[in-house]
Amino acid sequence: MRTTTCVWILSLCAVALGGCGAAGDDRYIFLEGGDETAALDEQVLEALSAHAVTPVSRPQPESEALVALGRALFFDKELSGNRNISCATCHHPVAGTGDALPVSFGEGGVGLGANREQADAHLIPRNAPHVFNGGVTGVNSMFWDSRVTHDPVTGVLTTPELGLNTAAPVLAEALPLTSALAAQAMFPVTSREEMRGQSDPLAPDPLRDAVDNPSIWAALMDRIGAIPEYRTLFAAAYPSVPDFDDFNFGHAARAIAAFERDAWTALDTPLDNYLGGDMSAMSNAAKRGALLFFGRASCGKCHDGPLLSDYEHHAVCVPQVGPGKVEANEDRGLALETGLVEDDYKFRTPALRNVALTGPWMHDGCFTTLEAAVRHHLDPLSSLTSFDVSQLPAPFNTMVDTDPARNAARVAALDPDHPMDVGLSDGEFDDLMAFLHALTDPASTNLLGVIPDSVPSGLPVKD
Ligand code: HEC
Ligand code: HEC
Repeated sequence: MRTTTCVWILSLCAVALGGCGAAGDDRYIFLEGGDETAALDEQVLEALSAHAVTPVSRPQPESEALVALGRALFFDKELSGNRNISCATCHHPVAGTGDALPVSFGEGGVGLGANREQADAHLIPRNAPHVFNGGVTGVNSMFWDSRVTHDPVTGVLTTPELGLNTAAPVLAEALPLTSALAAQAMFPVTSREEMRGQSDPLAPDPLRDAVDNPSIWAALMDRIGAIPEYRTLFAAAYPSVPDFDDFNFGHAARAIAAFERDAWTALDTPLDNYLGGDMSAMSNAAKRGALLFFGRASCGKCHDGPLLSDYEHHAVCVPQVGPGKVEANEDRGLALETGLVEDDYKFRTPALRNVALTGPWMHDGCFTTLEAAVRHHLDPLSSLTSFDVSQLPAPFNTMVDTDPARNAARVAALDPDHPMDVGLSDGEFDDLMAFLHALTDPASTNLLGVIPDSVPSGLPVKD
């Protein structure tokens, strides 16, 4: 315990110091130890409220039958062309709903989590993000570049499949897609690298050989419908739909989203309990860290709102690892979607519940410790130029972009709101980390109960 403690008294500093500058590290006032907690709480509550960090409402419970169908589909490799990969392979309960790899190995890879080997797999350009709280109200975009969105007011989707978009979508699959999370689940199955696999002239297959998204989704429904247990699960999940032929892959995606929402809503963290009124839910270290997060370290400029994301896109000068998207070793992020130079290197701000469980971090998983990801934000330019390749496992350690011109472009694109060089003492850094650890839901540290013993296709589940 400190005998004399420093806390920020924002309301007093104008008087005491003649004004609060943006730097703010001179905003210290000394208090006796006994007053520390109460004064901290006052400041933390003010900072949370100023950054719109309000309690998150829990989603409405889903029907059990819909969740059961979604769980089966999520873990079933039957959804992949070569029956060798499921959603769970890349979003696994043992890996914080990601895959513990910097960027994913697609279909043809072998094993799970950090032990997964590339074997015949293509590399996927980006890190598999966690799916915690993807079904919470207010989460209306998916992917690092938000290329799938759902407007909760109009119900309109934007997706890579035009037939699902607009107020009057051409494809019937759009109708069951009542959230961004559900719309997202339509797409991994369409990617040859992720799940669908390549065509093989010697082994024709309607799924691998399909020529457009509607035929992919139809081929999947044929596969699924050939398994009697799925017919039973679909009928139970959608009692108002009379016949299996009336189902489309939108119904499957909607069920997958129901499962994800049921299994991975993580809102029982110290921060949530604190927001709910339990002032002892966070340690004083975490509270001091919250003041740094929303104060001098400027994290709250982007990580604000109920889920600690503004759901906007920012360029934060992240070292590039992996095969690259469109160009080799390069990923220009949002600009690849919008075609705008000003969107270069922008990625969507990640939500931070359970962030301690969801490594490696960033759009390309370039940081394999949470400490390194946070230190990057404290001094992005030196983090980029002195990136420690040794933290990456093979083969990713040979895939770091060191091209000076592209790194200069990443520096030039850095968000003007981003801090450049936040000097934190070791104690302050520990406090900041304590706040990030106060975002962990203890129930999420062991999600093994989510894994089914078997799936309707009979394909293996545990590998
Ligand atoms: C080969 C690995 C792989 C497989 C298989 C896979 N995903 Fe993903 N998933 C990823 C990657 C990589 C991204 C990020 C891609 C991007 O943003 O460009 C992603 C993104 C997501 C997101 C968006 C999360 C967010 O916050 O934006 C969700 C949800 C998701 N996947 C669910 C699924 C579901 C459901 C399936 C099965 C139908 C699936 N994934 C199959 C790798 C995979
Ligand atoms: C200018 C906006 C901005 C600021 C300021 C900011 N972040 Fe971020 N943060 C982002 C974006 C955008 C990403 C993803 C970048 C990428 O992957 O290329 C990110 C990624 C992260 C990640 C990795 C999350 C994951 O799931 O991979 C962590 C942890 C994080 N930020 C914490 C912080 C902390 C702590 C601070 C303050 C020291 C901070 N951020 C300041 C926008 C910001």
